[in-house]
Amino acid sequence: MTLPWTEKYRPKSFGEVVNQEEAKHKLASWICGKFRAPREFCSRWAKLRDREVLDAKAVLLAGPPGIGKTTLVHALAREINYELIELNASDVRSAERLRQVVGRGLKEAPLFGHEGKLVLFDEVDGLHVREDLGGLETIIEIIESARVPIVMTANNPYDPKFRPLRDMSLLVSLRRLSEDEIVELLRRICASEGAKCEEEALRSIARSSLGDLRAAVNDLQMLLSGRRVLVVDDIKRVGERNPQLSMFEILDRVYRARWFDGARAVSFNPSFDWEQYLMWALESIPVVYRDVEASSEALDRLSKADVIIGRIKRAQEWELLPYALELALGGVSQVRSKPRLPPFIRYGFPQRLLILARTKEARRRRDALVEYIAQGVHASKSLVKSELIYVLSALAKRNPQIVERLRKALNMSAVDLKELLP
Ligand SMILES: Nc1ncnc2c1ncn2[C@@H]1O[C@H](COP(=O)(O)OP(=O)(O)OP(=O)(O)O)[C@@H](O)[C@H]1O
Ligand SMILES: [Mg+2]
Repeated sequence: MTLPWTEKYRPKSFGEVVNQEEAKHKLASWICGKFRAPREFCSRWAKLRDREVLDAKAVLLAGPPGIGKTTLVHALAREINYELIELNASDVRSAERLRQVVGRGLKEAPLFGHEGKLVLFDEVDGLHVREDLGGLETIIEIIESARVPIVMTANNPYDPKFRPLRDMSLLVSLRRLSEDEIVELLRRICASEGAKCEEEALRSIARSSLGDLRAAVNDLQMLLSGRRVLVVDDIKRVGERNPQLSMFEILDRVYRARWFDGARAVSFNPSFDWEQYLMWALESIPVVYRDVEASSEALDRLSKADVIIGRIKRAQEWELLPYALELALGGVSQVRSKPRLPPFIRYGFPQRLLILARTKEARRRRDALVEYIAQGVHASKSLVKSELIYVLSALAKRNPQIVERLRKALNMSAVDLKELLP
């Protein structure tokens, strides 16, 4: 299995995490002020002595996706030599399970060679208020009573439901990365992969990532899969009309969405092109799900979406589009026997588009022939295309003179006609 580059190039130490200096100082000051940590680490990073920092019971790392929140906590655990107990929203969904996992993790002594334990509640905003209220309360309970460092991450900590968590935590905001910083990191990855990447290509990836380094690195890996050269035109191929989310990102979000709404939400992105999406989805479903049951369920929903779209196009009933999209996005994403997905999925460019591009010239010539014949024999083009042309072709194989007669009748050159008959 290919290692996702986001893992391969994930910074291992505090120093390697790019451009989050303020966050690093705050986080380190909190850890060093309250827990045991190596002296060199603290003297380098822990400079703050404010009450705000030292009084906080936990840390809430906040910021948009893909800018290093999870990475920073992993690097911290490594720097201070703590064992990391990591929980995500699905563990937190039931209060019971949460208590079990944390309880068990904290009761046992840290793994051999570790100084202590650090708890990470990753993506606490993945909690759904109604059904996970227990989860949120349990986190608060754990923070109140725990004697180990607890760090949480969230994209949007200002959601009112986090109020109590925010009040007891030190809020550390991470910055969105700039285009230049992202280009710089992408350039380094290209170099270490031995790939030749056009500067302008990297810039274009960076621009459409909107500061999300994970997205940028994923795009780069997809674009470079199976090749060692990257030019601007390659990017146009996958994302020309999608300045915000590339098709890779859209598919990834749909397949990995934990909830129906998450998958449905990609259609609100201004760059979402549903016609393209349907084509990519059709080809990627069996590759991604690899399971007959799951694939057939997803394909069935896609086919129902297609039926609706057929009707929309025939009758111009555009108000039906949302229903088609629900099926094509949420329906494809949430299948019953959804298998575990690999961390990195290689989405292939739809064969249909490639074939159409490759056969464009041949199709154009065949259409011209169809037109000739249709006029010559006074039949409809679709009849010629679906039947007559094959009959003629079969006849011509048996009796080459027919080609000659047909050619004269149609007033065409001999070479053309022979080539054009299927
Ligand atoms: N500041 C950074 N410096 C270097 N690499 C980074 C940085 N931010 C992100 N990365 C790269 O992007 C990948 C994703 O980062 P990370 O998982 O930390 O994002 P996140 O902020 O936790 O996002 P999310 O909110 O989606 O969980 C990392 O594996 C790393 O390769
Ligand atoms: Mg994260």
